[in-house]
Amino acid sequence: MKIFKNIKQLAQIRSVNESIVKGAKMNELPTLENAWLRIENDRIQDFGSMAQFDELNTTGYEIVDVTGQCILPTWVDSHTHLVYANTREQEFVDRINGLTYEQIAQRGGGILNSAAMLANASEDDLFWTAFKRLNKVIKLGTGAIEIKSGYGLTLETELKMLRVIKRLQGVSPIPVKATFLGAHAFPAHLKETPNVYIHQIINEMIPAVAEEQLAEYIDVFCEKGYFDTDQTKRILEAGIKHGLKPKVHVNQFNIINGIETSVKANAISVDHLEVLSEKDIEVLSKSNTMPVALPSCSFFLQIPYTPARQIINAGLPLALATDYNPGSTPSGNMNFVVSLACIQMKMTPEEAVNAATVNAAAAIELSSSLGSITQGKKANFILTEKISSLHYLPYSFGENCISSVYINGEIFN
Ligand code: NIG
Ligand code: FE
Repeated sequence: MKIFKNIKQLAQIRSVNESIVKGAKMNELPTLENAWLRIENDRIQDFGSMAQFDELNTTGYEIVDVTGQCILPTWVDSHTHLVYANTREQEFVDRINGLTYEQIAQRGGGILNSAAMLANASEDDLFWTAFKRLNKVIKLGTGAIEIKSGYGLTLETELKMLRVIKRLQGVSPIPVKATFLGAHAFPAHLKETPNVYIHQIINEMIPAVAEEQLAEYIDVFCEKGYFDTDQTKRILEAGIKHGLKPKVHVNQFNIINGIETSVKANAISVDHLEVLSEKDIEVLSKSNTMPVALPSCSFFLQIPYTPARQIINAGLPLALATDYNPGSTPSGNMNFVVSLACIQMKMTPEEAVNAATVNAAAAIELSSSLGSITQGKKANFILTEKISSLHYLPYSFGENCISSVYINGEIFN
């Protein structure tokens, strides 16, 4: 039981029913200046202005004076691939020397490289390396996360990845959501017989994943050279039949109508969107699907950034995530994502914080317990160092301004 007092800015205070922020509203970040925050066990109990502090019953509470420091909800990272066997820095060097991400993939690098390495890794090793990555990103302020399979590409190895994610769910202090991404790439030996792999995904993998309750979501890399819209549709529908909800990798390099396919399947989110047409925007406007941008992937691959202004100006919501993975985004740092969103996507700090908290929670259906400073929600929040204002966070890119991260009401160490 704690009361934080003299909070310079208490940001993202919302009522429980404000679970998605869209369009012009994204530029509003409800903030209390000079505030207190009371937490009881793992929950936010109450908050208010220091002007009323004297009226507050403080008996039995530990008082923490945080003069000059700000508090905001922890980041929600709604899109990661943080279970993987090995890093891929050779491909990074290859790209510096002139190869493209697509060229590297075509010669067996990329996702297939990760799959080959994962096939040889033990479940235990995968668990421990992923557990270390998870702890690192929590220290960077991530208070809920989604993790995908997709570096297995066989029944056994996909299940191995998902069992690792399930083990993480069992020990993680933060919520972990699991997504089955068997349709991440075609295994090399099935490249010429795609229907064989689609058949395996639909008839073997999805039923097994559902049977063992290993995932809540189904994902597909809907892209030229990967899964076309017809294949995407069939896989999403099979997932839905088994209780899995769609979240789709789409419009990363090419516009192939995948957004419409995803929206028709009632996707919870569509992620990447580096390339986007007017028609895509229109389709999204008539849906409840959350668009998710992954700017650190654009940064690392030097590909276009998701047109955030176009999305927000159309009245849509937008969420931000890292895409943490060994190929296109070897970083799980949401602070950097928020900075990039401001610097490269011309999002205001208010828009970026909304995209990385409240909307990000909606992108993994955690709005009822996370994403804002709200009575009754989980006491997962970031206590900054002494900073001049919240705008300083994205401005001082690359600097760690976090003093401590509270998870379930306790400092995370
Ligand atoms: O989201 N785009 C597809 N999948 C991952 C990258 C996977 C990899 O290169 O290992 C992504 O960027
Ligand atoms: Fe991804």
